Amino acid sequence: MLKKNIYLIFSAFLVSSIVVACTQKNSNSTFIKNIPIGVAVAQTSNVALLGQEQVIGSKIAEQYFNQQQGVNGIPIKIILQDVAGDEQGAINAFNTLINKDKVVGIVGPSLSQQAFAADPIAQRAKVPVLGPSNTAKGIPQIGDYIARVSAPVAEVAPNAVKKALEINPDLKKVAVFFAQNDAFSKSESETFQETVKTQDLELITVQKFQTTDTDFQTQATAAINLKPDLIIISGLAADGGNLVKQLRELGYQGLIIGGNGLNTSNIFPVCQTKCDGLLIAQAYNPELNNSINQAFRKAYIAENKQEPPQFTAQAFTGVQVFVEALTSLDGETPIKDLSLGQLRTKLRDKILSQSYQTVLGEIYFTPEGEIIQKQFYVAQIKMDADGKNGQFTFLE
Ligand code: ALA
Repeated sequence: MLKKNIYLIFSAFLVSSIVVACTQKNSNSTFIKNIPIGVAVAQTSNVALLGQEQVIGSKIAEQYFNQQQGVNGIPIKIILQDVAGDEQGAINAFNTLINKDKVVGIVGPSLSQQAFAADPIAQRAKVPVLGPSNTAKGIPQIGDYIARVSAPVAEVAPNAVKKALEINPDLKKVAVFFAQNDAFSKSESETFQETVKTQDLELITVQKFQTTDTDFQTQATAAINLKPDLIIISGLAADGGNLVKQLRELGYQGLIIGGNGLNTSNIFPVCQTKCDGLLIAQAYNPELNNSINQAFRKAYIAENKQEPPQFTAQAFTGVQVFVEALTSLDGETPIKDLSLGQLRTKLRDKILSQSYQTVLGEIYFTPEGEIIQKQFYVAQIKMDADGKNGQFTFLE
């Protein structure tokens, strides 16, 4: 009996030792089943007006790249975490993705304002981040694990002013509005204000508001009294859409440029017929003629019955960059042989070392993690007479 008990205890010890040894050696055995990529975007709050489009982009990407063999036969798994509308939401989502979901990298967050708060967490944990829509100056400079697929304000915003000048070569007086509690809006407005000066236009007033504001009568009236030919707005979708609506209701008839935070058809229910004519610079053009964009556009239209928007295209691109960098990395060093920490660091290096044929055209990164993208566009919103539906018309 004693002999039998000793034998049982010894056997149990042996089995558990083997289990522990196996777990330690093959610490990434989970990657044999799938590779978790975090997507931290806004699914709730006003910022979901942008974030919903990013969720769609990441889901199309998951399906598309898994149909294309994932990462050398290993499927990817998109893990969504809601960043909601503020910094704390983004911090929570990043912590969960890094520590609980153990993702290899993160596409997110939705806002630059959130990126300045949450990206340092990923940086400290050495987790690569691809900003899908963070366009403020200074994002890649947060740290060497932070890059972005969303071209910065300095590259994108001036295109809209140049287009406004083509439409109305006589325009001279420009009023600028920006949301002073939002890092991106501040940054974009600085670019717009510089562009106004370099284009020899007259900056007649700079009006400030908050992204939480709903009443813009005071600022709108002050600007309209100065008789601007062009009004430029840097804000987010809900506030920006409301401001456009109120400017028109107060009788302003000149050109309006909306910044990157207004770049969604989700503003249509906010400004309705008053969205008509709004100019917005674009980092994506659905007409781009390459094979990945054709597949992406087809998949998007099949589900949504309209052309894919920029934020969807950029989120798709963020996932693509992770998939292609993982695939190259796995070709050199099987990723199942790497610890999670090693994988995250090697993945960061790989992301920065190659170029990608994407729905945004060919892209690559500077050593700092800034996107290099060749082409930008400007679209103008055309609303139907009833103000319910509309579309972005790309200008030549
Ligand atoms: N482009 C906007 C930002 O950076 C959404 O916050």
